[in-house]
Amino acid sequence: MDAAAELTRRRLQLFPITAIYAPADAPGRGAELSIGGCRVRALAQEYGTPLYCFDAATLDAAAQAYRAALARHYPGESAVTYAGKAYLSRAIARWTQRHDFWLDCTGAGEIGIAAAAGVPRRRILVHGVNKSAVDLEMAVQHAGVIVVDNLAELHRLAPMLRAATNNIALWLRVRPGVAVDTHAYRQTGQEDSKFGVSPQEAMDAVRFCLDHGLPLNGLHFHQGSHFHDPAPIGPALETVLGLVAEIASTTGWQPQSLSPGGGWGVAYHEDDLPQPDVEHYVQFVAQRVVEGCRQRGLKLPSLHLEPGRSLVARGGVAVYTVGAVKQTATRRWLFIDGGMADNPRPALYGARYSALPVSDPDRPTVGPVWIAGPYCESGDVLIEALPMPAIAADELLAVPVSGAYHLAMQSNYNGARKPAVLWLDNGAATLIQRRETLADLLARDVGIDL
Ligand SMILES: Cc1ncc(COP(=O)(O)O)c(C=O)c1O
Repeated sequence: MDAAAELTRRRLQLFPITAIYAPADAPGRGAELSIGGCRVRALAQEYGTPLYCFDAATLDAAAQAYRAALARHYPGESAVTYAGKAYLSRAIARWTQRHDFWLDCTGAGEIGIAAAAGVPRRRILVHGVNKSAVDLEMAVQHAGVIVVDNLAELHRLAPMLRAATNNIALWLRVRPGVAVDTHAYRQTGQEDSKFGVSPQEAMDAVRFCLDHGLPLNGLHFHQGSHFHDPAPIGPALETVLGLVAEIASTTGWQPQSLSPGGGWGVAYHEDDLPQPDVEHYVQFVAQRVVEGCRQRGLKLPSLHLEPGRSLVARGGVAVYTVGAVKQTATRRWLFIDGGMADNPRPALYGARYSALPVSDPDRPTVGPVWIAGPYCESGDVLIEALPMPAIAADELLAVPVSGAYHLAMQSNYNGARKPAVLWLDNGAATLIQRRETLADLLARDVGIDL
């Protein structure tokens, strides 16, 4: 295999599991990218670009990997909660229900989407640091579990829960004092993190719940997002299970549910391959929980994992059109029609991506390109120094691993209209979110004469 074909083969491993290059359907063109049985060129023609596509088979396989690993390695009850912050729409919320997942919602907006999608109350779990009054009201109205971030929130919730007629449980988010190895902006478990209560405050919170008859039945911690080494979960579990043992011996209370959050990473670039193994992560967590409970004589809690990225990132592909190619002193620039408005991750924390041309990927590489968006920031560079063939204006590029924390963090910067989103399943493409229009941009602009 020549070098260009080998590079394509490696990059294709970042794409959805259904991604292949199929022979062109018209003479004179090279092989064309197909995902979920749909030709990407045809989708771009029909829906325009930038375009986001989710491959059902890849999402289903990721869901199945979590389920199978939990069944293999955890002897107690378990559940998977999809972290909706990675990407949420009614379609994805409904997809979670096909897999009997719970759905983690942050704030009233996400709760509203989950409820509108018909996710049953018992499967809606609410997170959030500094939840507003509206967030708490929505949570009490629609959720089965509220994860309490701090003592002030607990005190605010107490009268609301006493007045509530729904069956709601509280979990407490503990700050274990250990973060996972990831970018500082994505670490959440360290001592100085803004998230959760300290072990000492947790003790006070449990006492408060017991004294006030509040339905506390779970503990939660989350050490950060996009990590590849589960080792730091070990000491965090030691801290949290030590706390459980102490609470149990002084109050008799034990959590029915325990969640070590989510955060398992994915490969974004060919240099990150092979794909991090979900089974390895789940096995590590399950064994540590079983062992930690056995050592302390605690009953096995129901184990709740809370992945977002590792469920949906690889299933998502962003498709862009190259508008122009520009050469500067040392750089060959490819200008595409999306960038930091639909994917702020490179600008936010230097996230590194790869890409493939939608057509004829095995052309020889002619050097690195800088792939930049149209927005008025020099930081609007989606990919830096990526070896690519000679790409011409009007070609399509596909950026893999675009399913998590792109659309969820997108903006209208420079008046960008948010892209259309497709669900690809077995040769059928279904629109799950239409492209925003100028009318959408104007809809909340009161347009008053000043
Ligand atoms: C509380 C909580 N749970 C789960 C997640 C999901 O993380 P990831 O998408 O990396 O799996 C996050 C993300 O930061 C989070 O804050």
